[in-house]
Amino acid sequence: MNSTSKTDTLRAIRANILHCQGDPDDQPSTSNPKQALEYIEDGVLIIEKGLVQACGPSTSLAIPDSAVVHDFRGKLLVPGFVDTHVHYPQVDVIAAYGTQLLDWLERYTFPAEAQFNDEQHATSVAQFFLDELLKNGTTTALVFGTVHAASVDAFFTEASKRDLRMICGKVMMDRNAPPTVLDTAQSAYEDTKTLINRWHGKQRLDYAVTPRFAPTSSEAQLALAGQLLKEHPDVYLHTHMAENTDECDWVASLYPGHQDYLAVYEHFELVRKRSVFAHCIHLSDNAWKRMATADCSVAHCPCSNLFIGSGLFDLRSAQKHKIRVGLGSDIGGGDSFSILRNINEAYKIQQLQRHKLAPEQAFYMATLGGARALDLDDRIGNFDIGKEADFLIVDETATPLLKRRTQAQDNWYDRLFSLMMLGDDRCIERTFIMGEPIVYPSIE
Ligand code: GUN
Ligand code: ZN
Repeated sequence: MNSTSKTDTLRAIRANILHCQGDPDDQPSTSNPKQALEYIEDGVLIIEKGLVQACGPSTSLAIPDSAVVHDFRGKLLVPGFVDTHVHYPQVDVIAAYGTQLLDWLERYTFPAEAQFNDEQHATSVAQFFLDELLKNGTTTALVFGTVHAASVDAFFTEASKRDLRMICGKVMMDRNAPPTVLDTAQSAYEDTKTLINRWHGKQRLDYAVTPRFAPTSSEAQLALAGQLLKEHPDVYLHTHMAENTDECDWVASLYPGHQDYLAVYEHFELVRKRSVFAHCIHLSDNAWKRMATADCSVAHCPCSNLFIGSGLFDLRSAQKHKIRVGLGSDIGGGDSFSILRNINEAYKIQQLQRHKLAPEQAFYMATLGGARALDLDDRIGNFDIGKEADFLIVDETATPLLKRRTQAQDNWYDRLFSLMMLGDDRCIERTFIMGEPIVYPSIE
């Protein structure tokens, strides 16, 4: 594993450590579901050259004399959160009133995205966006740019300055939108190729081929997206699917002769490992089965699904078919950067379907499960030795209400659920990237 840490400082972090060792759903039904999580009361995490060197109880793990010790005893230390679907250019349309998906795109989103042909504008939004992500405890994200190549250059430049593990791509869209946000099938292919060569695999950055969704790409453009995946097999594919019923009807009319929405993407060979489909609300059991066979991933975006009124995600079907699911904030359809806020809404979405989202499953989706959905679990997601040390110090008593609620709870498992229901960015006391504590220049 390559280290890209800026300093060689040996660090020891002392806190109560919580991380996942596996998928809680994979535990035998006879075992305690909490077993997928490891909780170490008064633990130590030792970081060398930005990577995890050791993780264990303070009583049995010797802290080297040369280590800089960060004493966060009483606080919680968890892996950085993973946001598996978000649009950085939509920061300035977050919380826009009164529309559902297709009108929301026309009225708010396309005009905001049109401004990203200006690289200076893109840079200043990327700076704010990344600082806000980190302040909320999100250390890795799969990110939409806009149709403009400059938007991706600006994003990756800022992410690389912060040494972040990020995935981004230029949106491909050549129809059904204003000319200011359109490319052509050929220009999208060429720009994407240039960006892949410039950014994919550089530092901690990876590229995602990013057709917006089937309605805004011609058949020729989706075919070229498939060709890009063949030419660059280890890049990601990132798009939207089956978010809204009007969108699904539109796809059926634009792409007649295909069995369903997924079949359109299958036809152009876009459905495979390292393909991430955001939303996936309106899918048949047959489509879930085909997705499982293809081993692609799903980004579940709870705040967005409620905010723009898209529908209730069927987590049970995804789990039944063993499909990798991560959480996505989907800023600006979503109204919160906070993965904790997204877990809160995810819990309620399952409640409305008489399904229980267990705290360990939610924590898994936010960390190791999100990393698995992005095929990055060999790098991030928990504190296995050798993983990149992106992590958070969480204060479970950050607000008076949380303090009152958690004081009455004498076990970490109950406190974790309270944190998920009542917590937000106020609970993220510090974010560390590759073992280094960071500050937020454009916010603080
Ligand atoms: N479908 C196509 N484009 C978008 C977008 O920008 N946001 C969301 N939530 N769904 C989309
Ligand atoms: Zn989206």
